[in-house]
Amino acid sequence: MKNKARWAAWLLVLGLVLGGCGAAETKMQSDAVESAFGAEEDLIVVGVSQVGSESVWRTVNTESLQNVFTKDNGYFLLFKNARQKQENQIKAVRSFISQRVDYIVLSPLTETGWDTVFEEAKEAGIPVILIDRKANVKDESLYTAWVGSNFYWEGVQAGRILEKKLAAQGRENDTIRIVTLCGTAGGTATLGRSQGFEEVAEGHDNWIMLENVDGDFTTTKGKEQMRSLLRKYKDIDVVVSQNDDMTFGALASIEDAGLKAGERGDIMLISFDATKNGLELVKEGKIMADVECNPHLGEYVDEIIKALERGDSVRKERYVRENVYTKDNVEEALADR
Ligand code: AHR
Repeated sequence: MKNKARWAAWLLVLGLVLGGCGAAETKMQSDAVESAFGAEEDLIVVGVSQVGSESVWRTVNTESLQNVFTKDNGYFLLFKNARQKQENQIKAVRSFISQRVDYIVLSPLTETGWDTVFEEAKEAGIPVILIDRKANVKDESLYTAWVGSNFYWEGVQAGRILEKKLAAQGRENDTIRIVTLCGTAGGTATLGRSQGFEEVAEGHDNWIMLENVDGDFTTTKGKEQMRSLLRKYKDIDVVVSQNDDMTFGALASIEDAGLKAGERGDIMLISFDATKNGLELVKEGKIMADVECNPHLGEYVDEIIKALERGDSVRKERYVRENVYTKDNVEEALADR
């Protein structure tokens, strides 16, 4: 399967000449051009279709992939940023197929809509490896493996930590008004975190789920949506924000409204990702809990590909380890970041 680097690079050069390219992809593509003229290597060609650059988590995830798919590690990387559009991911997969890459690595923006293009990859004999979010396809043989987070578990942890904090405050029987800033509609992270938290909430008649709004995992939308929610509801007790970036925006709106976030403040914030900046806010007491989402998936994909190259079988699904951080254990996490 290997050693298509030269062929892929020549096609890429042709594509650049005919079509130009975006700034974010320029470096990797110029590496590709260099490789087209200089490479004699027996490299494994990997086409990566990334969701976008919507969050700090995503940036770290992209770096983790770029760090493993290097020439030194035996790879030739073709990278495409879909800018949060499924149509761009589908186009990217088709371009990887026409460039005859060895593997396609994809983080699907949403769960549905992948059957046709995955069938095309299968017909071309190219294994599709999913990372981070899942694809809901009729035939599971259309992808080889998936590695990522247990988003449902993350949502349950958010619910459990809220139960624990309310009990510690003696508020377990109080009416608790909750709003949720959701991530991208239809994506596994959003679906799993919503389901997990809602299942815990269903066990508490005094938890009032006021509204779920779409914040698309971005700071700008998190800020806008929080501003509107604060105008609409006078007495929000808890904000469940499905990633740190939306939390940063929500926190800005909370403070602009003259309110205080924190366990002893007006609103308790629960966040996801546990990025460095998120954890700093846990330490400051502004975020009550941050549920980790591990972005370091590159090493796992590397393992999967190396196993496939050896002809070994690989696990269909692999969940990565994660944790929940509050002010009680945040220092140890920050020491690692
Ligand atoms: O799919 C993982 C989620 O996507 C992360 O929580 C979020 O920050 C990212 O944009």
